[in-house]
Amino acid sequence: MLIKVDDAITEASVGLSIRRRQSVSNMALTNDPNYKKLEQWYKANAGSLNMRDMFEEDKDRFNKFSTTLQTDDGDILLDFSKNLINQEVLTMLLAKSRGVEEAREKMFSGEKINFTEGRAVLHVALRNRSNTPISVDGKDVMPEVNRVLDKMKAFCHRVRSGEWKGFSGKSISDVVNIGIGGSDLGPLMVTEALKPYSAGGPKVWFVSNIDGTHMAKTLAQLNPETTLFIIASKTFTTQETITNAESARDWLLQTANDVSPFVKVKDFGIDTENMFEFWDWVGGRYSLWSAIGLSIALHVGFENFEQLLSGAHWMDNHFRSTPLDQNVPVLLAVLGVWYINFFQAETHAMLPYDQYMHRFAAYFQQGDMESNGKYITKDGTRVNYHTGPIVWGEPGTNGQHAFYQLIHQGTRMIPADFLIPAQSQHPIRDNLHHKILVANFLAQTEALMKGKTAAEARKELEAGGLTGGAVEKLLPHKVFEGNKPSNSIVFKKLSPFVLGALVAMYEHKIFVQGVMWDINSYDQWGVELGKQLAKKIEPELKDDSAVTSHDSSTNGLISFLKKNFA
Ligand code: F6P
Repeated sequence: MLIKVDDAITEASVGLSIRRRQSVSNMALTNDPNYKKLEQWYKANAGSLNMRDMFEEDKDRFNKFSTTLQTDDGDILLDFSKNLINQEVLTMLLAKSRGVEEAREKMFSGEKINFTEGRAVLHVALRNRSNTPISVDGKDVMPEVNRVLDKMKAFCHRVRSGEWKGFSGKSISDVVNIGIGGSDLGPLMVTEALKPYSAGGPKVWFVSNIDGTHMAKTLAQLNPETTLFIIASKTFTTQETITNAESARDWLLQTANDVSPFVKVKDFGIDTENMFEFWDWVGGRYSLWSAIGLSIALHVGFENFEQLLSGAHWMDNHFRSTPLDQNVPVLLAVLGVWYINFFQAETHAMLPYDQYMHRFAAYFQQGDMESNGKYITKDGTRVNYHTGPIVWGEPGTNGQHAFYQLIHQGTRMIPADFLIPAQSQHPIRDNLHHKILVANFLAQTEALMKGKTAAEARKELEAGGLTGGAVEKLLPHKVFEGNKPSNSIVFKKLSPFVLGALVAMYEHKIFVQGVMWDINSYDQWGVELGKQLAKKIEPELKDDSAVTSHDSSTNGLISFLKKNFA
């Protein structure tokens, strides 16, 4: 039977299939014999997967479905036992037929796996601390990578030591990163996460939004004599970044009497000596490891930046060499596929129990959604299954008092990753705060898994003094179905090394899912249409004349805005 795609998406029982009229690639997930097998299994058995029962029946479940990574900077534990899986499901999910191992090798060896742009995907080269040669078009990229790293190192030293001066001869106290998307979110997330390591470095600020408020409010807090601007852009054509950079330049010029630095500059006004290159084989959302990470290195120091790279390199090695059933990014990826393609989960929550990680989910919103928000497979046909999830999240415990209600008792399945360090950066009041944080972290995943049965809820209500009809009335509201999946990711401390490893872990998870869905995780054509239309609309806003070139809604909106501009 052929059904409309929209109907199919909402038809939960349909498992993998979002059937469409057009032909489906041979490589499509739905054509994979192992996934057909899994679909059969899902239809016949998924309803009976009960985590409470599985934990009851198998006291060793945690040991079977968890793995500890012994990194060079403490252990990282992935506990994936609170998932709707058993060994049979996991084995089928880890089927080699998706070609993950081959694809992984292609990425690490510099093959042009970004096939729509004809580019290699080599963020792993940026953190290749072992320095083994990696070739693109027959040329080892490592000497260039190391050259730019050396340049960043020297620059960091000059700024942090006070040797680098602003136009009036004063040392730099503040660094403003002007960039957007991958040229903003990564450095912003990392500098926030690594604040405890920033002693001795300049303060960092981030201006991304074209909304003048972002720039104006930031500049209002800065002194032009001691402020350094980084214009972070891969293409140097992004409208928001270029406009913000021009505004920053104007602000500097208003104060600087000596404009000589700007006279000798090319085009925009930056001495090419102060240009830090990166290459077309680094995707924007994978670029924090490159010169785009300069604000990170300035803030936390180059040694800590290197630690970040080392942590990511550690995870790269784990990902590249570990068998699939022990491979943390692979495990996270297949669990995601299980929920997205079989249970029809639409979102994935990232819930770090660490205030310093408050931009972590926002960072991976771009990382995941710009990478895997695609519906065209390698051979140009449309998928007949869901791809990347909607990624979202906030730090705990704040989220508990905001949106967890829906995770516990809402109608949707929200698979979630809970992350927490064992050690707090601020063990205040004898670590009381952290212990409460940890207790909440543990309580949430336990509650999601176990839920609360009607019998348990009834007992509680009766213990609270309710009887008869009052109990019956309240009872359904007090029941938690439970059986809600989560991963727990626990690490010793949020050090630069560990953060690097965690970010790389999710990058590789995204990679694996892209391979499984047979899409290109490394282009982003979907952001272009809006950019094109904005360029067309902008000149139409210049005067009062009526605009009729669009649909009636857009025309109407333009007309309303114009009337209210003054
Ligand atoms: O519009 C999307 C995007 O191209 C992202 O992929 C990228 O991270 C961002 O814009 C910024 O691009 P650039 O670094 O070239 O300014």
